[in-house]
Amino acid sequence: MNTNTNLTNAELNPLHSLDEWEDDLLVRYPDADSIAQGKTVEEYRDYENTQKDNVREFYRLNHTHQTYDFVMQKREEFLQFNKKQMPIWDAFQFLNQLVDDSDPDTDLDQFQHLLQTSEAIRRDGHPDWMVLAGLLHDMGKVLCLFGEPQWAVVGDTFPVGCAYSDKIVYPGFFKNNPDYSDERFTSKYGVYSPNCGLRNVHMSWGHDEYIYHIAKDYLPEPALYMLRYHSFYAQHRENAYTHLMDDHDHEMFKWVKLFNPYDLYSKNPTPPDWNELKPYYENLVEKYLPSTLKF
Ligand SMILES: [Fe+2]
Ligand SMILES: [Fe+2]
Repeated sequence: MNTNTNLTNAELNPLHSLDEWEDDLLVRYPDADSIAQGKTVEEYRDYENTQKDNVREFYRLNHTHQTYDFVMQKREEFLQFNKKQMPIWDAFQFLNQLVDDSDPDTDLDQFQHLLQTSEAIRRDGHPDWMVLAGLLHDMGKVLCLFGEPQWAVVGDTFPVGCAYSDKIVYPGFFKNNPDYSDERFTSKYGVYSPNCGLRNVHMSWGHDEYIYHIAKDYLPEPALYMLRYHSFYAQHRENAYTHLMDDHDHEMFKWVKLFNPYDLYSKNPTPPDWNELKPYYENLVEKYLPSTLKF
């Protein structure tokens, strides 16, 4: 964006790594089981103290710049899929170029998070397309590697084009967003109508929407909902946008809610043994996906 040309990288990208956003999610939505198994509430609070300022600044940027027009512009730019075409295995390697400069010894690379998510889903005996959703769900973070700022890739997502819910994290920062005082967008429904269905609602732009569009011809609909709304905490955790959802969304959100704990709570410092798992995943990918994906 032109307005950002004078900003330094740290000002554009306040998070040391994308994981800081996800660690903050764990502070907001701690897992009762993890706490019971020895992670104390204080440990979660430590995260909060060390990373809070970065995360706060990240949300300030996200809430300020994610306007309705910005979303339209990014859809136009990225949904042509003319950036890169590659087999999925190359895409994972590409994604792994997103390295974490803050804490290299405790954080796993992006592929490990995807694999731990999908393995946790598989262990619980869910359908194979849900396992594949686990494997793919953060692939959209390659947007960072196409030069997009963090606030346009990660963070909780929310509808644009209508009033912001105060259930969205750091709601006060929306006052800086030009849409906040644009009368087309300020009412409860804004440009939408009651229970119009989320397929008619534009979400803030980021890795969820992007991977949904990449995968939308290949996976069953519940898997696509998981991809598209996995960061929509204001709905799947807070039920703040029920007024825009139709009956079909409610059915599908059962799957989104089922998916969320696998994303948030499957992180484990021990990486899975990829060589052992490889044949299963090669078959799975072959079953659903074409030989190359377009980004
Ligand atoms: Fe994600
Ligand atoms: Fe994730």
